[in-house]
Amino acid sequence: MKLAVIGTGYVGLVTGTCFAEVGHTVICVDCDARKVEMLQKGGIPIYEPGLEELVQKNVAAGRLGFTTSTRDGVENADVVFIAVPTPPQPDGSVDLSFMEGVARDIAAVMTSYKIVVDKSTVPVKTGEKVAETIRRYCKAKVEFDVVSNPEFLREGSAVSDFLKPDRVVIGVRTQRPVAAMKELYAPFNAPVVVTDINSAELIKHAANSFLALKISYINAISVICEASGANVQEVASGIGMDARIGRQFFDASLGFGGSCFPKDLSAFVKIAEQLGYDFGLLKEVQRINALQMDRFFKKILETVWVLKDKKIGVLGLAFKQNTDDVRMSPAIDLCHRLLKEGALLRVHDPKAMDKARTVLPPSGVTYIDDMNEVAEGCDALVVATEWNQFKSLDLDRVRKAMTHPILFDGRNLFDPREMEQLGFIYKSIGR
Ligand code: UGA
Repeated sequence: MKLAVIGTGYVGLVTGTCFAEVGHTVICVDCDARKVEMLQKGGIPIYEPGLEELVQKNVAAGRLGFTTSTRDGVENADVVFIAVPTPPQPDGSVDLSFMEGVARDIAAVMTSYKIVVDKSTVPVKTGEKVAETIRRYCKAKVEFDVVSNPEFLREGSAVSDFLKPDRVVIGVRTQRPVAAMKELYAPFNAPVVVTDINSAELIKHAANSFLALKISYINAISVICEASGANVQEVASGIGMDARIGRQFFDASLGFGGSCFPKDLSAFVKIAEQLGYDFGLLKEVQRINALQMDRFFKKILETVWVLKDKKIGVLGLAFKQNTDDVRMSPAIDLCHRLLKEGALLRVHDPKAMDKARTVLPPSGVTYIDDMNEVAEGCDALVVATEWNQFKSLDLDRVRKAMTHPILFDGRNLFDPREMEQLGFIYKSIGR
């Protein structure tokens, strides 16, 4: 099939590339000419495992192209995906101006029947507005259908999540686009759930909120574990073996971050409020998440005491492992808190150092390329992101290099008993 994908951020680029990989012909459209030029030359603006190779392979095969022209993308496409940002506004609601703008652009260039698919995460009832907008601005009065097709990709494993989805959700108003949408996704062999548009939009917000709730639940349990001397990892395993609950997304941490969970929770609370429901449960999820960072930082303060002029090593800057994304990263929040107290930071992240430079102040932060050199002369070391490679840190070297062997583990990567045997003062989460 012939597709256009408008917006080449994490979602749009992965969507377009993976559809090309299974044989569809895809044109990705973006208004950022520099980005388009970079993509045309085989470069990619983000780090996402496996994506660069797939982009290059599919561009070479002639199945994937990039343009700044909506007309060039939409003209010959059977299906047009909208994958533009839906950023948060100060009151928690979502800024839908990019959605509206793209709906107008599509309307202006449509000359034959199109299936217009919303992939961006949006509040319930957005599809109705998109359809209304296209109808209003399409002078040619061409027929079209709007479909909601939310994405469930995780950054860091987006390509494999796309190629092996748990399910594909298709929200429609009429049956007309269903066969084409099923054909589009047929190569992925995944269960397809066909719903109305509002339900599909709700599935996305409700799924992300539930995952965030699960993390806040285990984080709340971690507080009880600390107070009672229990071990949150053992508790999580014991609960998670119940198939109804599951062990995934049940790791206590210094809190969840990223461009999705915090934003989607706020947006869901807001849309619920507009629909007349006070979603107190999700507000508590947000409160627990914020508290988790406060408690972790308090641990650092209580142990190190005065942070002014102390050298603190920070391992991890991205909001999670396998990405260079630092948006709403707990690690960056922690760096800001440490800097505010006057600490001097030595930081390392396998992929996110360049992006971190754009959000951290220019002074007080030294970027270290080798993770084993971060601890040099430090009064304390903090693990802030769950990168797998941190587990193979040369702990003996680290301890010897530190002024004081104090390690705060915000991701429970190490074993408390082993760390104590190695001579560390070791503090983690819920253990
Ligand atoms: C999330 C969802 O997992 C995806 O299904 C969804 O498609 C995506 O949002 C989206 O809406 O676009 P993502 O934000 O990329 O994906 O990353 P996650 O793997 O969900 O991690 C989110 C945060 O939770 C990270 O800060 C991570 O460190 C934290 N986390 C995750 C925990 O603290 N504990 C866990 O057990 C799992």
